[in-house]
Amino acid sequence: MKKILITGGAGFIGSHVVRLFVKKYPQYQIFNLDALTYAGNLENIVDIENEPNYTFIKGDIVDAPFIDALFAEHQFEGVLHLAAESHVDRSITDPLAFVRTNVIGTVNLLNAAKECWKDDFTDKLFYHVSTDEVYGTLGETGLFIETTSYDPNSPYSASKASSDHFVRAYGETYHLPYMISNCSNNYGPNQFPEKLIPLFIYNIVQEKSLPVYGDGKYTRDWLYVLDHAIAIDLALHKGKVGETYNIGGFNEWQNIELVKLLCKIMDEKLGRVPGTSEQLISYVKDRPGHDLRYAIDASKINKELGWKPSVTFEQGLERTVSWYLENQTWLNNITSGDYATYYEKQYN
Ligand code: NAD
Ligand code: TYD
Repeated sequence: MKKILITGGAGFIGSHVVRLFVKKYPQYQIFNLDALTYAGNLENIVDIENEPNYTFIKGDIVDAPFIDALFAEHQFEGVLHLAAESHVDRSITDPLAFVRTNVIGTVNLLNAAKECWKDDFTDKLFYHVSTDEVYGTLGETGLFIETTSYDPNSPYSASKASSDHFVRAYGETYHLPYMISNCSNNYGPNQFPEKLIPLFIYNIVQEKSLPVYGDGKYTRDWLYVLDHAIAIDLALHKGKVGETYNIGGFNEWQNIELVKLLCKIMDEKLGRVPGTSEQLISYVKDRPGHDLRYAIDASKINKELGWKPSVTFEQGLERTVSWYLENQTWLNNITSGDYATYYEKQYN
C-alpha cells in the first residue's frame, strides 16, 4: 500500500496518526479526509501541512457520491478510518448524528473501497479504528479480550459496535481485506476539552469547578495517544488481515483518583498551594447508562506484534499537562464559539 486515505486526521487521535505516517513513510502518499466538525482542527497538524507526501481534503464521509468520486479519482490502496463522532455525552443528546457519521459514513467508505478494489484485493486493507466501549461494561473484575461479546450501552458505543459489525460483514461477504482495533481511553495533546482530562485541565487553569459524574468510582484504562498511533502503525503493517487487536494501557484508574492526581500535578505546575485544585471537585448528576469499568487485555497485540505502551501514566500525564499549559492559544481558539453553548447545556 502506497496511497493511504486516513479519515478524521484533523481530530485528536487522527492528527497523531497522520503525523506519524507522513513522517515515517515518505514513500507513501497520505490523504487526510476530514469534515472539520467542531472536533476537527487543522492547527493540530499545521507542522506537516507542507510535506510533499501529504494532502488534506475537506469532506464528509456521509456524502456517498463524494466518497465514491474520491476513490475513483485517487485509487487509494489503503484506508485508515478514524473519522467519527466520539463523545459519549453528545451521543446521549443527539444519537442520530452518531448513526450518520459512525454507521452510514463507515458503510459509505466500505462501499467505495469494495467498488474501487473489486478486481484485485491484493495488498489492499481497510483498517477500522474502534473502541473498547463496544464490549459494554465490566464489573469489579475481568478484562475485555478480542472475543468478548459486544454489549454496547451508549448511543456512541452502539454506533461504533454497528460500524465494527459492518466492517467484519464486508470481510465475510465480499472478502474485503480488513483489520479492526479496539482501544481504551486515550489522553494526550490536542484532545478536545469535552473529554475528562483536557476538560479538567482547562477548568483547573480557569479555577472553574470540576464536574465529577456520580460518585467518581467509574474506572477507565488510559493510554497515551502516541502509543495508540504506534500500535495502529504496527498492526496495519504487521498484523493479520481479518483480525481484531485490543489495545490498552494496562493502566486502570478510578475517575476520582485520576482527578486527584491531575489536581496535584496542576498545583505543582501552576505554583499553587498543594490541595488548592482539589477544592474545585464537585460531584454532579451521573451520566445516564454510565459504564462502570473498562479494562483491556492487550496481550494479543503484545505477544503477536511485540507492542506495549512506551510511556508511563505519570510521564504521559505530565507531558499532557505541560502541552496544554504551553498551548493556551490552541485552547482559547477551540473554546471560543460553540464551546460555551455546549458547556452551558451539558453542565448547567
Ligand atoms: P475526535 O472527535 O477528536 O476526532 C474525530 C475527527 O473526525 C474530527 O477531526 C472530525 O472533524 C472528523 N469527522 C467527524 N465526522 C466526520 C464526517 N462525517 N466526515 C469526515 N470527518 C468527520 O475523535 P478521536 O478521539 O480522535 O477518535 C478517533 C477515532 O478513535 C474514533 O473512531 C473513535 O471512536 C476512536 N477511539 C477513540 C478513543 C478515545 O479515547 N478518544 C478511544 C478508542 C477509540
Ligand atoms: P470521557 O473522557 O467522556 O470518556 P468515556 O466516556 O469515553 O470513557 O469520560 C471518562 C470518564 O470520566 C467517564 O467515566 C465519565 C467521566 N466524566 C466525568 O466524571 N465528568 C466529566 O465532565 C466528563 C466529561 C467525564
